[in-house]
Amino acid sequence: MSKLVGTAGVSVLGDKSLEFYRDPVAFCEQRIEKHGTRIFQSRLLNKPTSFVCSVEGMKELLCEKSSVFLKDPTDVMHNMYGDNIVTANGEEACLLRLSLTNLFTGKCLASGSDLINSVSERCLKNLSATGEPVSVYPLFKRLGTELVLGLFLNVKPDETPELFQEITALCTLHWHGIISTPISVKVPLWSSGFCTALEAKDKLMDIIKDKLECERQGFVGYLRDLPLPDASCASQHLLLFISALIPKALASLLTSFTLVLSGAGKKEIRNRARADPDYLYYILLEVQRLWPPFIGGRRIANQDTTLGGFHIPKAYAAMYVSHAIHRDPEVFHQPEDFLPERWCGRNAGQEHLLCSLGNGPRNCIGVQLNNVFLKAACGYLLQHYDWDLSPYSQDLQYKWLPVSRPTVPPMVSFTELELESSATDLPDGPP
Ligand code: HEM
Repeated sequence: MSKLVGTAGVSVLGDKSLEFYRDPVAFCEQRIEKHGTRIFQSRLLNKPTSFVCSVEGMKELLCEKSSVFLKDPTDVMHNMYGDNIVTANGEEACLLRLSLTNLFTGKCLASGSDLINSVSERCLKNLSATGEPVSVYPLFKRLGTELVLGLFLNVKPDETPELFQEITALCTLHWHGIISTPISVKVPLWSSGFCTALEAKDKLMDIIKDKLECERQGFVGYLRDLPLPDASCASQHLLLFISALIPKALASLLTSFTLVLSGAGKKEIRNRARADPDYLYYILLEVQRLWPPFIGGRRIANQDTTLGGFHIPKAYAAMYVSHAIHRDPEVFHQPEDFLPERWCGRNAGQEHLLCSLGNGPRNCIGVQLNNVFLKAACGYLLQHYDWDLSPYSQDLQYKWLPVSRPTVPPMVSFTELELESSATDLPDGPP
């Protein structure tokens, strides 16, 4: 067993959180290069932390040693969301997953598909009508917001526009509290943004509780009937599901999909994706590999252990970094290149080595729902449009936090297809 390379430094002064939050990709790349290994240590959120940047390390952390590396109940998410599955551990987490998974599979999932298709159509029709370029990230975020509010709360902008607006605005304020938290760890949690976010959270909880009492239909109805440990559990989880997190993650993926398939040079790829659902599936895998919406996730070791043969002391944190894991050259040859064909060639059947939706027993419970969302939105775009960047030359440099996307919002011009192709179909399963 060897000692972890790098240094965790001394408390507070040795903390590298700001450096990591400023540019997590450069942070990891520099250290991988310096230490010559994809597992190293540093100090994040003022805690000694092992950074995991290899596929093998990620599997060990999230799968084989999932009972050793636990969720952190004091995670920054907890301040803004309260008790929910994300920060739960052990039996409590297992039972919550068992209950909640029902919402995102089988007949519950099937019952949402009309809404998902109609929202995709409402948000994505007429993109070419004005002839003007469209700022795609806000467009897709609006699509994601309509999806989650329609699906989880039965709130639709065409039926109750004011309530829809109010919840959207509250979710934005609540989100600002989440992203201000890591920066304020050294001056804990009394910024005005944080207080505003807590007020927004209270108002959102009032709306959610009202919906849980009055609505009988859809997910809210299913959720109320689930066996959950206590009265506040359903509302705490609805807060998680409707918060800005999911619309932003969807907008991130749809933006990356649109950008990588844009322009005359990608016409062949778009045509192939229209005609071949398997090929569209490979494209979506490759989009998630290169541009995972979230940078990764964090765990805490509940005993002395090892990762990749390195000693990890009890209470150390471990951070898996999806961006770096997805570029591990041991598994993904030409890691920086967009090569959908890899998924029916060298990497065929290796979707389980991605971690854009987590991995192992604590992976994302919305995997299938996410698949349906992507299928509906990407299918709609492909069936109705060709598209290109407008202007042709734009700065597409990505930022990776809080959600991956180009720093400067990209502008895309859409052209209606003359002949609509037949419906594209994605196979079931991830992504
Ligand atoms: C593009 C969309 C999405 C992305 C990128 C995403 C990503 C992730 C990731 C990376 C994790 C693992 C976090 C960790 O390892 O600490 C996770 C967990 C989770 N996701 Fe998603 N997710 C998405 C959509 C959804 C949807 C639609 C839902 C349901 C409404 C959802 C609910 C959850 C929950 C409840 C967990 C926690 C599971 C647990 O701790 O046991 N996600 N997600």
